[in-house]
Amino acid sequence: MTSRLLSAGATARPIHVAGEGEAGDLPGVLGTWAQATGWKASAGSVLVSPSADGGLGAAALGIGARDVGLAERSLLTGALATGLPSGDWALADGHDLDPDLAALGFLLGAYRFDRYRTKPADEGARLVLPAGADEARVRLRASAVDLVRDLVNTPTNDLGPDGIEAAARALATEFGASVSVTLGDELLAANFPMIHAVGRASAVAPRLIDLRWGRADAPRVTLVGKGVAFDTGGLDIKPASGMLLMKKDMGGAANVLGLARIVMGERLPVQLRVLIPAVENAIAGNAFRPGDVLASRNGKTVEIGNTDAEGRLILADALSLADEEAPEILIDMATLTGAARVALGPDLPPFYTDDEALAADIAAASVSVHDPLWRLPLWKPYARNLASKIADINNVTTDGFAGSVTAALFLQGFVTRAKSWAHFDVFGWRPQPGPTGPAGGEAQGIRALAKVLQERYPSS
Ligand code: BES
Ligand code: ZN
Ligand code: ZN
Repeated sequence: MTSRLLSAGATARPIHVAGEGEAGDLPGVLGTWAQATGWKASAGSVLVSPSADGGLGAAALGIGARDVGLAERSLLTGALATGLPSGDWALADGHDLDPDLAALGFLLGAYRFDRYRTKPADEGARLVLPAGADEARVRLRASAVDLVRDLVNTPTNDLGPDGIEAAARALATEFGASVSVTLGDELLAANFPMIHAVGRASAVAPRLIDLRWGRADAPRVTLVGKGVAFDTGGLDIKPASGMLLMKKDMGGAANVLGLARIVMGERLPVQLRVLIPAVENAIAGNAFRPGDVLASRNGKTVEIGNTDAEGRLILADALSLADEEAPEILIDMATLTGAARVALGPDLPPFYTDDEALAADIAAASVSVHDPLWRLPLWKPYARNLASKIADINNVTTDGFAGSVTAALFLQGFVTRAKSWAHFDVFGWRPQPGPTGPAGGEAQGIRALAKVLQERYPSS
Protein backbone atom coordinates (compact mmCIF):
# COMPACT_ATOMS: atom_id res chain seq x y z
CA MET A 1 0.00 0.00 0.00
CA THR A 2 2.22 2.75 -1.28
CA SER A 3 -0.05 5.56 -0.01
CA ARG A 4 1.46 4.86 3.38
CA LEU A 5 4.51 6.92 2.44
CA LEU A 6 4.11 10.68 2.95
CA SER A 7 6.01 13.38 1.11
CA ALA A 8 9.02 14.82 2.90
CA GLY A 9 8.22 17.74 5.16
CA ALA A 10 4.83 16.58 6.48
CA THR A 11 4.45 17.05 10.24
CA ALA A 12 4.60 13.84 12.19
CA ARG A 13 5.45 12.21 15.49
CA PRO A 14 9.12 11.24 15.87
CA ILE A 15 10.60 7.74 15.74
CA HIS A 16 13.99 7.35 17.40
CA VAL A 17 16.29 4.52 16.40
CA ALA A 18 18.07 2.63 19.18
CA GLY A 19 20.50 -0.26 19.25
CA GLU A 20 20.86 -2.84 21.99
CA GLY A 21 21.85 -1.20 25.27
CA GLU A 22 20.97 2.27 23.97
CA ALA A 23 17.38 2.47 25.23
CA GLY A 24 18.53 4.60 28.17
CA ASP A 25 19.80 7.28 25.74
CA LEU A 26 16.34 7.90 24.26
CA PRO A 27 15.14 11.49 24.87
CA GLY A 28 12.59 12.65 27.44
CA VAL A 29 9.51 10.62 28.30
CA LEU A 30 10.44 8.02 25.67
CA GLY A 31 13.66 7.22 27.54
CA THR A 32 11.86 7.04 30.90
CA TRP A 33 9.18 4.85 29.37
CA ALA A 34 11.76 2.53 27.82
CA GLN A 35 13.41 2.13 31.21
CA ALA A 36 10.11 1.64 33.03
CA THR A 37 8.90 -1.05 30.61
CA GLY A 38 12.26 -2.78 30.33
CA TRP A 39 12.40 -2.28 26.56
CA LYS A 40 15.59 -3.84 25.15
CA ALA A 41 15.70 -2.38 21.63
CA SER A 42 15.96 -5.85 20.14
CA ALA A 43 15.96 -5.99 16.35
CA GLY A 44 12.57 -5.05 14.92
CA SER A 45 10.93 -4.19 18.26
CA VAL A 46 8.80 -1.06 18.43
CA LEU A 47 8.13 1.03 21.53
CA VAL A 48 5.49 3.76 21.73
CA SER A 49 5.49 6.10 24.70
CA PRO A 50 2.72 8.33 26.01
CA SER A 51 3.13 12.08 25.93
CA ALA A 52 3.31 14.04 29.19
CA ASP A 53 -0.50 14.43 29.21
CA GLY A 54 -1.20 10.75 28.53
CA GLY A 55 -1.74 11.07 24.76
CA LEU A 56 0.33 9.47 22.03
CA GLY A 57 3.98 10.51 22.34
CA ALA A 58 7.07 9.36 20.50
CA ALA A 59 8.20 5.97 19.23
CA ALA A 60 11.41 4.00 19.17
CA LEU A 61 12.58 1.36 16.70
CA GLY A 62 14.94 -1.25 18.08
CA ILE A 63 17.66 -2.37 15.73
CA GLY A 64 19.42 -4.86 18.03
CA ALA A 65 23.14 -5.56 17.90
CA ARG A 66 25.22 -2.95 16.06
CA ASP A 67 27.18 -5.58 14.15
CA VAL A 68 24.28 -6.12 11.73
CA GLY A 69 24.89 -4.69 8.26
CA LEU A 70 23.52 -1.30 7.23
CA ALA A 71 21.03 -2.69 4.70
CA GLU A 72 19.57 -5.31 7.01
CA ARG A 73 19.33 -2.77 9.82
CA SER A 74 17.65 -0.18 7.59
CA LEU A 75 14.96 -2.59 6.41
CA LEU A 76 13.88 -3.16 10.04
CA THR A 77 11.64 -0.10 9.58
CA GLY A 78 9.19 -2.66 8.23
CA ALA A 79 8.33 -3.42 11.85
CA LEU A 80 6.99 0.12 12.18
CA ALA A 81 4.31 -0.48 9.53
CA THR A 82 2.55 -2.99 11.75
CA GLY A 83 3.90 -1.90 15.16
CA LEU A 84 2.93 1.79 15.23
CA PRO A 85 -0.56 3.11 15.92
CA SER A 86 -2.32 4.85 13.01
CA GLY A 87 -1.13 8.36 12.33
CA ASP A 88 1.82 10.14 10.73
CA TRP A 89 5.34 9.32 11.85
CA ALA A 90 8.84 10.33 10.80
CA LEU A 91 12.34 9.07 11.59
CA ALA A 92 13.93 11.60 13.94
CA ASP A 93 17.11 13.32 12.76
CA GLY A 94 20.34 11.56 13.56
CA HIS A 95 19.32 8.02 12.63
CA ASP A 96 22.03 6.12 10.79
CA LEU A 97 19.80 4.13 8.45
CA ASP A 98 20.05 4.13 4.66
CA PRO A 99 17.18 6.41 3.58
CA ASP A 100 16.11 4.37 0.52
CA LEU A 101 16.12 1.07 2.39
CA ALA A 102 14.43 2.60 5.43
CA ALA A 103 11.58 3.84 3.23
CA LEU A 104 11.45 0.54 1.32
CA GLY A 105 11.44 -1.52 4.52
CA PHE A 106 8.41 0.39 5.75
CA LEU A 107 6.49 -0.18 2.50
CA LEU A 108 7.40 -3.87 2.41
CA GLY A 109 6.33 -4.28 6.03
CA ALA A 110 3.00 -2.62 5.22
CA TYR A 111 2.08 -5.26 2.61
CA ARG A 112 -1.11 -7.20 3.15
CA PHE A 113 -2.78 -9.67 0.84
CA ASP A 114 -6.42 -8.64 1.25
CA ARG A 115 -7.96 -9.77 -2.03
CA TYR A 116 -10.14 -12.32 -0.27
CA ARG A 117 -10.94 -10.33 2.88
CA THR A 118 -14.51 -9.08 2.89
CA LYS A 119 -13.81 -6.52 5.64
CA PRO A 120 -11.33 -3.69 4.99
CA ALA A 121 -8.24 -3.67 7.21
CA ASP A 122 -7.25 -0.74 9.41
CA GLU A 123 -5.50 2.15 7.69
CA GLY A 124 -2.23 1.76 9.55
CA ALA A 125 0.59 4.16 10.34
CA ARG A 126 2.15 6.38 7.68
CA LEU A 127 5.81 7.27 7.36
CA VAL A 128 7.25 10.52 6.10
CA LEU A 129 9.77 9.85 3.34
CA PRO A 130 13.17 9.95 5.07
CA ALA A 131 15.48 12.78 4.00
CA GLY A 132 17.68 11.69 1.11
CA ALA A 133 15.40 8.88 -0.08
CA ASP A 134 14.55 8.66 -3.79
CA GLU A 135 10.78 8.24 -3.71
CA ALA A 136 10.36 6.93 -7.26
CA ARG A 137 13.08 4.31 -6.89
CA VAL A 138 11.70 3.15 -3.57
CA ARG A 139 8.13 2.90 -4.84
CA LEU A 140 9.25 1.02 -7.95
CA ARG A 141 11.00 -1.61 -5.87
CA ALA A 142 8.11 -1.91 -3.42
CA SER A 143 5.64 -2.34 -6.28
CA ALA A 144 7.87 -4.99 -7.88
CA VAL A 145 8.10 -6.99 -4.64
CA ASP A 146 4.36 -6.60 -4.01
CA LEU A 147 3.60 -7.79 -7.55
CA VAL A 148 5.57 -10.97 -6.85
CA ARG A 149 3.76 -11.44 -3.54
CA ASP A 150 0.30 -10.90 -5.03
CA LEU A 151 0.96 -13.36 -7.85
CA VAL A 152 2.32 -16.05 -5.52
CA ASN A 153 -0.43 -15.55 -2.94
CA THR A 154 -3.25 -15.75 -5.45
CA PRO A 155 -4.55 -19.31 -5.47
CA THR A 156 -4.63 -21.34 -8.65
CA ASN A 157 -8.40 -21.13 -9.05
CA ASP A 158 -7.81 -17.42 -9.76
CA LEU A 159 -4.33 -17.66 -11.31
CA GLY A 160 -3.85 -20.56 -13.67
CA PRO A 161 -1.52 -20.52 -16.69
CA ASP A 162 -4.00 -18.05 -18.24
CA GLY A 163 -3.71 -15.78 -15.20
CA ILE A 164 0.09 -15.80 -15.46
CA GLU A 165 -0.31 -14.73 -19.09
CA ALA A 166 -2.73 -11.97 -18.05
CA ALA A 167 -0.21 -10.72 -15.47
CA ALA A 168 2.56 -10.61 -18.09
CA ARG A 169 0.28 -8.78 -20.52
CA ALA A 170 -0.74 -6.25 -17.86
CA LEU A 171 2.90 -5.52 -17.07
CA ALA A 172 3.70 -5.22 -20.78
CA THR A 173 0.88 -2.75 -21.31
CA GLU A 174 2.10 -0.62 -18.42
CA PHE A 175 5.59 -0.26 -19.91
CA GLY A 176 4.93 -0.51 -23.64
CA ALA A 177 6.43 -3.98 -24.02
CA SER A 178 5.20 -6.54 -26.56
CA VAL A 179 4.00 -10.03 -25.75
CA SER A 180 3.53 -13.09 -27.92
CA VAL A 181 2.14 -16.37 -26.65
CA THR A 182 2.45 -19.89 -28.02
CA LEU A 183 -0.66 -21.72 -26.82
CA GLY A 184 -1.70 -25.35 -26.43
CA ASP A 185 -1.02 -27.53 -29.48
CA GLU A 186 0.85 -24.65 -31.13
CA LEU A 187 3.63 -25.62 -28.71
CA LEU A 188 4.12 -28.84 -30.66
CA ALA A 189 4.30 -27.13 -34.04
CA ALA A 190 6.68 -24.51 -32.66
CA ASN A 191 8.92 -27.21 -31.11
CA PHE A 192 8.35 -26.89 -27.38
CA PRO A 193 7.56 -30.56 -26.76
CA MET A 194 8.36 -30.64 -23.05
CA ILE A 195 6.26 -27.58 -22.17
CA HIS A 196 3.39 -29.26 -23.96
CA ALA A 197 3.94 -32.66 -22.33
CA VAL A 198 4.01 -31.24 -18.80
CA GLY A 199 1.01 -28.96 -19.29
CA ARG A 200 -1.32 -30.92 -21.54
CA ALA A 201 -3.28 -32.72 -18.78
CA SER A 202 -4.64 -29.45 -17.39
CA ALA A 203 -8.05 -28.00 -18.30
CA VAL A 204 -6.19 -24.73 -18.89
CA ALA A 205 -3.87 -24.96 -21.88
CA PRO A 206 -0.08 -24.76 -21.40
CA ARG A 207 1.65 -21.82 -23.02
CA LEU A 208 4.97 -20.05 -23.54
CA ILE A 209 4.82 -16.34 -22.82
CA ASP A 210 7.43 -14.20 -24.59
CA LEU A 211 7.70 -10.55 -23.52
CA ARG A 212 10.09 -8.12 -25.19
CA TRP A 213 11.00 -4.56 -24.30
CA GLY A 214 13.76 -2.09 -25.12
CA ARG A 215 15.89 -1.03 -28.05
CA ALA A 216 16.95 -3.69 -30.54
CA ASP A 217 20.57 -2.43 -30.52
CA ALA A 218 21.00 -2.72 -26.75
CA PRO A 219 22.62 -5.74 -25.03
CA ARG A 220 20.29 -8.69 -24.61
CA VAL A 221 19.19 -9.57 -21.08
CA THR A 222 16.85 -12.55 -20.94
CA LEU A 223 14.90 -13.71 -17.90
CA VAL A 224 13.24 -17.11 -17.72
CA GLY A 225 10.79 -18.01 -14.94
CA LYS A 226 9.20 -21.33 -13.96
CA GLY A 227 5.46 -20.79 -14.26
CA VAL A 228 3.88 -23.92 -12.81
CA ALA A 229 0.51 -22.54 -11.72
CA PHE A 230 0.01 -25.64 -9.59
CA ASP A 231 2.20 -28.67 -9.06
CA THR A 232 0.29 -31.82 -8.08
CA GLY A 233 3.45 -33.79 -8.87
CA GLY A 234 1.64 -35.34 -11.83
CA LEU A 235 1.22 -39.12 -11.81
CA ASP A 236 4.05 -39.20 -9.24
CA ILE A 237 1.54 -37.39 -7.09
CA LYS A 238 2.64 -35.39 -4.06
CA PRO A 239 1.27 -36.22 -0.61
CA ALA A 240 -1.23 -33.69 0.81
CA SER A 241 1.41 -31.95 2.94
CA GLY A 242 3.73 -31.53 -0.05
CA MET A 243 0.95 -30.27 -2.33
CA LEU A 244 -0.61 -27.78 0.05
CA LEU A 245 1.58 -24.83 -0.94
CA MET A 246 2.03 -25.67 -4.61
CA LYS A 247 0.11 -22.61 -5.83
CA LYS A 248 3.52 -20.99 -5.28
CA ASP A 249 5.20 -23.11 -7.96
CA MET A 250 4.99 -20.13 -10.30
CA GLY A 251 7.25 -18.18 -7.92
CA GLY A 252 10.04 -18.06 -10.51
CA ALA A 253 7.68 -16.54 -13.08
CA ALA A 254 6.42 -14.04 -10.51
CA ASN A 255 9.99 -13.07 -9.58
CA VAL A 256 11.13 -12.50 -13.16
CA LEU A 257 8.04 -10.34 -13.77
CA GLY A 258 8.94 -8.34 -10.65
CA LEU A 259 12.52 -7.97 -11.88
CA ALA A 260 11.25 -6.96 -15.33
CA ARG A 261 9.14 -4.28 -13.65
CA ILE A 262 12.28 -2.74 -12.12
CA VAL A 263 14.31 -3.02 -15.34
CA MET A 264 11.58 -1.32 -17.38
CA GLY A 265 10.68 1.18 -14.66
CA GLU A 266 14.34 2.24 -14.46
CA ARG A 267 14.50 2.30 -18.28
CA LEU A 268 17.75 0.34 -18.26
CA PRO A 269 19.47 0.40 -21.66
CA VAL A 270 18.97 -3.29 -22.37
CA GLN A 271 16.99 -5.39 -24.77
CA LEU A 272 14.86 -7.24 -22.24
CA ARG A 273 13.20 -10.56 -22.94
CA VAL A 274 11.09 -12.46 -20.43
CA LEU A 275 10.17 -16.07 -21.16
CA ILE A 276 7.64 -17.87 -19.01
CA PRO A 277 6.57 -21.42 -19.68
CA ALA A 278 3.19 -21.43 -17.91
CA VAL A 279 1.58 -24.79 -17.19
CA GLU A 280 -0.33 -26.70 -14.58
CA ASN A 281 1.25 -30.05 -13.67
CA ALA A 282 -2.09 -31.83 -13.49
CA ILE A 283 -3.36 -35.41 -13.58
CA ALA A 284 -5.59 -36.77 -16.33
CA GLY A 285 -5.63 -39.63 -18.85
CA ASN A 286 -3.34 -37.69 -21.16
CA ALA A 287 -0.77 -36.83 -18.48
CA PHE A 288 2.89 -37.60 -19.22
CA ARG A 289 4.09 -40.67 -17.35
CA PRO A 290 7.09 -42.00 -15.45
CA GLY A 291 9.18 -43.86 -17.99
CA ASP A 292 8.08 -41.76 -20.95
CA VAL A 293 10.85 -40.43 -23.16
CA LEU A 294 10.31 -36.86 -24.32
CA ALA A 295 11.98 -35.00 -27.13
CA SER A 296 13.17 -31.54 -26.17
CA ARG A 297 13.55 -28.35 -28.18
CA ASN A 298 17.32 -28.69 -28.57
CA GLY A 299 17.04 -32.31 -29.71
CA LYS A 300 18.15 -34.12 -26.55
CA THR A 301 15.86 -36.93 -25.44
CA VAL A 302 14.78 -36.95 -21.80
CA GLU A 303 13.61 -40.00 -19.88
CA ILE A 304 11.06 -39.17 -17.20
CA GLY A 305 12.26 -40.65 -13.93
CA ASN A 306 9.71 -38.62 -11.99
CA THR A 307 6.80 -36.47 -13.22
CA ASP A 308 7.24 -34.26 -10.17
CA ALA A 309 10.53 -32.96 -11.59
CA GLU A 310 8.48 -30.99 -14.14
CA GLY A 311 10.00 -27.56 -13.67
CA ARG A 312 13.34 -28.46 -15.25
CA LEU A 313 11.50 -29.87 -18.28
CA ILE A 314 9.57 -26.73 -19.13
CA LEU A 315 12.59 -24.56 -18.29
CA ALA A 316 14.79 -26.64 -20.59
CA ASP A 317 12.62 -25.80 -23.61
CA ALA A 318 12.39 -22.13 -22.62
CA LEU A 319 16.14 -21.92 -21.94
CA SER A 320 16.86 -23.50 -25.32
CA LEU A 321 14.81 -20.79 -27.01
CA ALA A 322 16.48 -18.04 -24.96
CA ASP A 323 19.90 -19.48 -25.74
CA GLU A 324 19.31 -19.42 -29.51
CA GLU A 325 19.90 -15.68 -29.65
CA ALA A 326 22.98 -15.84 -27.40
CA PRO A 327 21.98 -13.22 -24.82
CA GLU A 328 24.67 -11.37 -22.90
CA ILE A 329 23.01 -12.37 -19.64
CA LEU A 330 20.56 -15.24 -19.20
CA ILE A 331 18.92 -15.54 -15.79
CA ASP A 332 16.39 -18.14 -14.75
CA MET A 333 14.42 -18.26 -11.52
CA ALA A 334 12.44 -21.26 -10.35
CA THR A 335 10.90 -22.96 -7.33
CA LEU A 336 12.79 -25.93 -8.63
CA THR A 337 13.64 -28.27 -5.76
CA GLY A 338 12.71 -29.12 -2.20
CA ALA A 339 16.42 -29.87 -1.83
CA ALA A 340 17.31 -26.17 -2.01
CA ARG A 341 15.18 -25.56 1.07
CA VAL A 342 16.78 -28.53 2.84
CA ALA A 343 20.25 -27.17 2.06
CA LEU A 344 19.81 -23.51 2.94
CA GLY A 345 16.32 -23.03 4.40
CA PRO A 346 13.50 -20.94 2.97
CA ASP A 347 15.13 -17.49 3.32
CA LEU A 348 18.44 -18.03 1.52
CA PRO A 349 18.01 -19.08 -2.12
CA PRO A 350 20.97 -20.78 -3.78
CA PHE A 351 22.17 -19.52 -7.13
CA TYR A 352 24.43 -21.16 -9.68
CA THR A 353 26.70 -19.75 -12.34
CA ASP A 354 30.08 -20.52 -13.90
CA ASP A 355 30.70 -16.80 -14.49
CA GLU A 356 32.97 -15.79 -11.60
CA ALA A 357 32.56 -12.05 -12.20
CA LEU A 358 28.78 -12.33 -12.28
CA ALA A 359 28.80 -14.48 -9.13
CA ALA A 360 30.88 -11.86 -7.33
CA ASP A 361 28.58 -9.05 -8.47
CA ILE A 362 25.48 -10.96 -7.36
CA ALA A 363 26.97 -11.76 -3.97
CA ALA A 364 28.00 -8.14 -3.41
CA ALA A 365 24.63 -6.76 -4.49
CA SER A 366 22.87 -9.28 -2.29
CA VAL A 367 24.68 -7.92 0.75
CA SER A 368 24.39 -4.26 -0.18
CA VAL A 369 20.57 -4.34 -0.46
CA HIS A 370 20.08 -7.24 1.98
CA ASP A 371 18.41 -9.56 -0.50
CA PRO A 372 19.93 -12.84 0.69
CA LEU A 373 21.46 -15.23 -1.88
CA TRP A 374 24.12 -17.93 -1.61
CA ARG A 375 26.19 -19.42 -4.40
CA LEU A 376 26.29 -23.22 -4.71
CA PRO A 377 28.51 -25.04 -7.19
CA LEU A 378 27.67 -26.48 -10.60
CA TRP A 379 29.60 -29.57 -9.51
CA LYS A 380 30.10 -31.32 -12.84
CA PRO A 381 30.92 -34.83 -11.52
CA TYR A 382 27.36 -35.17 -10.21
CA ALA A 383 26.00 -34.85 -13.74
CA ARG A 384 26.75 -38.54 -14.20
CA ASN A 385 23.85 -39.28 -11.87
CA LEU A 386 21.46 -37.90 -14.48
CA ALA A 387 22.39 -40.67 -16.92
CA SER A 388 19.58 -42.65 -18.55
CA LYS A 389 19.75 -46.24 -19.80
CA ILE A 390 17.65 -45.51 -22.86
CA ALA A 391 17.70 -41.74 -23.50
CA ASP A 392 20.27 -38.93 -23.55
CA ILE A 393 19.45 -37.90 -20.00
CA ASN A 394 17.06 -38.62 -17.13
CA ASN A 395 15.13 -35.77 -15.50
CA VAL A 396 16.03 -36.94 -11.98
CA THR A 397 18.78 -38.50 -9.94
CA THR A 398 17.82 -41.31 -7.58
CA ASP A 399 20.54 -41.29 -4.94
CA GLY A 400 18.94 -38.50 -2.92
CA PHE A 401 22.11 -36.38 -2.92
CA ALA A 402 22.56 -32.72 -3.91
CA GLY A 403 19.13 -32.39 -5.51
CA SER A 404 19.37 -28.66 -6.12
CA VAL A 405 22.84 -29.02 -7.68
CA THR A 406 21.79 -31.81 -10.03
CA ALA A 407 18.65 -29.89 -11.08
CA ALA A 408 20.93 -26.94 -11.93
CA LEU A 409 23.24 -29.27 -13.90
CA PHE A 410 20.22 -30.57 -15.82
CA LEU A 411 19.33 -26.99 -16.83
CA GLN A 412 22.93 -26.17 -17.72
CA GLY A 413 22.80 -28.83 -20.41
CA PHE A 414 20.35 -26.65 -22.33
CA VAL A 415 22.47 -23.49 -22.26
CA THR A 416 25.40 -23.35 -24.68
CA ARG A 417 25.46 -19.95 -26.37
CA ALA A 418 24.50 -17.41 -23.71
CA LYS A 419 27.58 -15.42 -22.69
CA SER A 420 26.61 -15.73 -19.07
CA TRP A 421 23.97 -17.81 -17.33
CA ALA A 422 22.76 -17.82 -13.73
CA HIS A 423 20.09 -20.01 -12.18
CA PHE A 424 18.19 -19.20 -8.97
CA ASP A 425 16.45 -22.00 -7.04
CA VAL A 426 14.05 -19.88 -4.97
CA PHE A 427 11.52 -20.88 -2.33
CA GLY A 428 9.20 -17.98 -3.13
CA TRP A 429 7.55 -18.07 0.25
CA ARG A 430 8.07 -16.57 3.69
CA PRO A 431 6.96 -19.18 6.23
CA GLN A 432 7.06 -16.81 9.24
CA PRO A 433 6.06 -13.16 9.38
CA GLY A 434 9.02 -10.79 9.74
CA PRO A 435 9.68 -7.04 9.81
CA THR A 436 9.61 -6.80 6.01
CA GLY A 437 6.45 -8.76 5.39
CA PRO A 438 3.75 -11.17 6.48
CA ALA A 439 3.92 -14.92 5.99
CA GLY A 440 3.14 -15.82 2.38
CA GLY A 441 4.48 -15.25 -1.12
CA GLU A 442 7.84 -13.49 -1.17
CA ALA A 443 10.15 -11.97 -3.76
CA GLN A 444 13.69 -13.32 -3.58
CA GLY A 445 16.78 -12.09 -5.37
CA ILE A 446 15.16 -9.48 -7.58
CA ARG A 447 16.39 -6.42 -5.71
CA ALA A 448 19.92 -7.79 -5.80
CA LEU A 449 19.64 -8.68 -9.49
CA ALA A 450 18.20 -5.26 -10.31
CA LYS A 451 21.28 -3.74 -8.68
CA VAL A 452 23.63 -5.94 -10.69
CA LEU A 453 21.86 -5.01 -13.93
CA GLN A 454 21.79 -1.34 -13.00
CA GLU A 455 25.53 -1.35 -12.35
CA ARG A 456 26.28 -3.16 -15.59
CA TYR A 457 23.87 -1.11 -17.68
CA PRO A 458 23.62 2.31 -16.07
CA SER A 459 20.77 4.45 -17.43
CA SER A 460 22.09 7.65 -18.92
N1 BES B 1 7.93 -27.56 -7.20
C1 BES B 1 8.73 -28.62 -6.71
C2 BES B 1 9.88 -28.16 -5.85
C3 BES B 1 9.53 -27.57 -4.51
C4 BES B 1 8.97 -28.36 -3.52
C5 BES B 1 9.88 -26.28 -4.25
C6 BES B 1 8.72 -27.82 -2.29
C7 BES B 1 9.64 -25.75 -3.02
C8 BES B 1 9.04 -26.51 -2.04
C9 BES B 1 9.35 -29.41 -7.86
O1 BES B 1 8.62 -29.46 -9.03
C10 BES B 1 9.51 -30.80 -7.34
O2 BES B 1 8.53 -31.40 -6.98
N2 BES B 1 10.75 -31.25 -7.27
C11 BES B 1 11.04 -32.54 -6.75
C12 BES B 1 12.13 -33.13 -7.61
C13 BES B 1 12.37 -34.58 -7.36
C14 BES B 1 11.20 -35.41 -7.87
C15 BES B 1 13.64 -34.99 -8.06
C16 BES B 1 11.53 -32.38 -5.32
O3 BES B 1 12.23 -31.40 -5.02
O4 BES B 1 11.19 -33.21 -4.49
ZN1 ZN C 1 7.17 -31.02 -9.09
ZN1 ZN D 1 7.33 -27.85 -9.38
